[in-house]
Amino acid sequence: MAVKQFGEEWTKQHVLKSTLLFLLHFIIFIGLAFVLLFGGKFSQVSKTMSEQGANYLYATFCILLLFVIAYFYFYFENRDILASGKNIALVFTILDLHLIASCLIGYKFDVYARPVALVALLVFVLIGRRDAIFMNILSALVVFIIDTFAVNGVSAKECYSTLVISFSAGMIAIFFANKAKSRLHIIGIGVAIVLPIDFIIFLLEISKLLDANEAAVGQSSFQFILMQMGYGLFGGVMSAVLFLFILPVFESMFNCLTAFRLRELTSSDAKILKKLKAEAPGTYNHSMMVAQLAESSAAAIGENVDYARAAALYHDVGKLHYPEHFTENQGEYNLHDELTPELSADIIRSHAKDGYTLIRNHRLPEFLANIALEHHGTMPIRYFYAKALKMTDGELNIDDFSYMGPKPQSKLAAIIMICDAAEAAVRAANARTPEQTEKAIRAVIEERMDLEQFAECDVTMADLTKIRLALVNTLTGVYHHRIQYPNIKYRRTESGTKGESE
Ligand SMILES: [Fe+2]
Ligand SMILES: [Fe+2]
Repeated sequence: MAVKQFGEEWTKQHVLKSTLLFLLHFIIFIGLAFVLLFGGKFSQVSKTMSEQGANYLYATFCILLLFVIAYFYFYFENRDILASGKNIALVFTILDLHLIASCLIGYKFDVYARPVALVALLVFVLIGRRDAIFMNILSALVVFIIDTFAVNGVSAKECYSTLVISFSAGMIAIFFANKAKSRLHIIGIGVAIVLPIDFIIFLLEISKLLDANEAAVGQSSFQFILMQMGYGLFGGVMSAVLFLFILPVFESMFNCLTAFRLRELTSSDAKILKKLKAEAPGTYNHSMMVAQLAESSAAAIGENVDYARAAALYHDVGKLHYPEHFTENQGEYNLHDELTPELSADIIRSHAKDGYTLIRNHRLPEFLANIALEHHGTMPIRYFYAKALKMTDGELNIDDFSYMGPKPQSKLAAIIMICDAAEAAVRAANARTPEQTEKAIRAVIEERMDLEQFAECDVTMADLTKIRLALVNTLTGVYHHRIQYPNIKYRRTESGTKGESE
């Protein structure tokens, strides 16, 4: 039976395709492990295989079992990962990377120096917290299996120690990463996870001191413990450093929109926003206002607030082509006085398409481009339609004076459409009281409903009501009654400053 989830019908083809991709990535993973373990010494393969073939086979089956469990985890918890080959490749590339780092650093340097929190940090930022917790456990177990069954020279205690450290460090990194506001904060996380890592190493090594056999070998000295703790420090910091270098590569390779990237895109230093501020200051201020409204609307209906803010800031960037043709950037002189209403309407409506092209050309996230294109839907440009009607006795095609669409395709696009129009309407109506504001916003939403602007997105009546209430609340706060201050004239006298009412 086809299961409907994540907005897509899940069919047998999906199951088959994702299973085959998982299998392919498993083979690549095992091949990679084989190359890393044997290095260039392929002449020794047959000798080692005849001695330890059973161990390798056991390790391979254990890893296969873990990957089957991972498949079922994603099937039930986050099917979006299985739905796209790109997402499956993302998950396995992170695992491959972890394998490479673990083998190269662990076997050539020290097992405690591995970047133990790398998988947790990457998955947390690129996919999400719940999947990061699962992938952290999975990667720790995979490396534990390789350490235990496929490598000579790693003691049983070291295997268990690294398992405990990998799991704990990853989990702590995930808890701390929740608070990280920028990429640089991640370095702080790298340092923060060193403390628990070193504490675990200290306890584990102290426990070895109590072991008479280990003490006889002489490896449990105080200096040795300090050295091991030094490796732990290196592993914690390396997790953060590698993360900082790898994340931008993953963001661009897999076109991932991370919280960090979103923050950079919405900062006033972002290239297009900087240009908007300099060349179309009126539009920039309007976009900032729409962003505030979009945030409260998104929060009211449970949509992503950061996405709403970004979409609002970029919705009118198409106005950069002819900034002075838009009211908010005009001075005394109106350029449209020299143009026919048809030409004016053409310039105005082209800003939706221009915004789409500009955002795509800058390789910014697709949802920003789509919302820029959809934020006016197929609404008529009333001012120029009315102007044209006055100038002609004949019939006019309203389509020539309407935006070209498409209508909003997502709840976020619907939010931006409403907030954009509500901001302008409340400002134009000079609405000051909650009642006046409510009336203006209700008119905006009803006009768009009458013109079927929400016919192609899944926004509900309940959503529209919540958006309306959120907007009234925010806009009443912004354009509130200003207290009339009495006019007082101040004058300086010998005894001090005195005020007199005018
Ligand atoms: Fe617009
Ligand atoms: Fe706008």
